[in-house]
Amino acid sequence: MDASTLDSPAGFAALIKGIFSEGKAKESHATWQSARHKGVYDLAESLPSLDALAECLRALHLSVHQPLEQSLRGGTQTDGYLFARVEPEIRALRRAVVEAVREHVAQLPPADPRHPQLSERRSPIRFSGAWSVRLTSGGNHANHIHPQGWFSSALYVALPDPEQRGPEPAGWLTLGEPQAELQLDLPPFRMVEPKPGRLALFPSTMWHGTRSFGAGERLTVAFDVAPPR
Ligand SMILES: [Fe+2]
Repeated sequence: MDASTLDSPAGFAALIKGIFSEGKAKESHATWQSARHKGVYDLAESLPSLDALAECLRALHLSVHQPLEQSLRGGTQTDGYLFARVEPEIRALRRAVVEAVREHVAQLPPADPRHPQLSERRSPIRFSGAWSVRLTSGGNHANHIHPQGWFSSALYVALPDPEQRGPEPAGWLTLGEPQAELQLDLPPFRMVEPKPGRLALFPSTMWHGTRSFGAGERLTVAFDVAPPR
């Protein structure tokens, strides 16, 4: 491989597109089709008050600016490992998330050494990162993956009113839609409607992003579950 190929986003995209020809991309798409790899859990009853949690998270966003990460547009992301914080709302949030991840892992298909999500070992549950994202009017999250994780997530804490948000699917989570630069033209194979207290879990190597929305505040928590070892 010519190292200069990786010097520009266009070169990198061409390289990836060559490796994952459309046929291969569709085949790889199909390997994720098991509905049990993705899960949507409504946690409102096991979470702390969403209003109190939102207040707590907003305070953490006050001092940060739009991060350098290219996928986040029109928003802020908290610094540091969110689940290490000692605020009662964050500790309660972590407890509810651990329970939901355990439930998700418990219903996965049997172990398959060829599949990156289906290792024999599935405990203990560990996190490799946790943070909050606050998108405001017109923000979106371009399609991306988290190559180091096992399962990734989106947990909705506060959302714009439907009139502010715009017509469906404004603000929805897309799963399985490659980043636009790859020009693979594959549709998402699942879209998740955000609802307060809703958690979406999906394989970390699955493309995911957020459709643009009109106006208002969209406050979420995200975390990566680390591969068990
Ligand atoms: Fe992500």
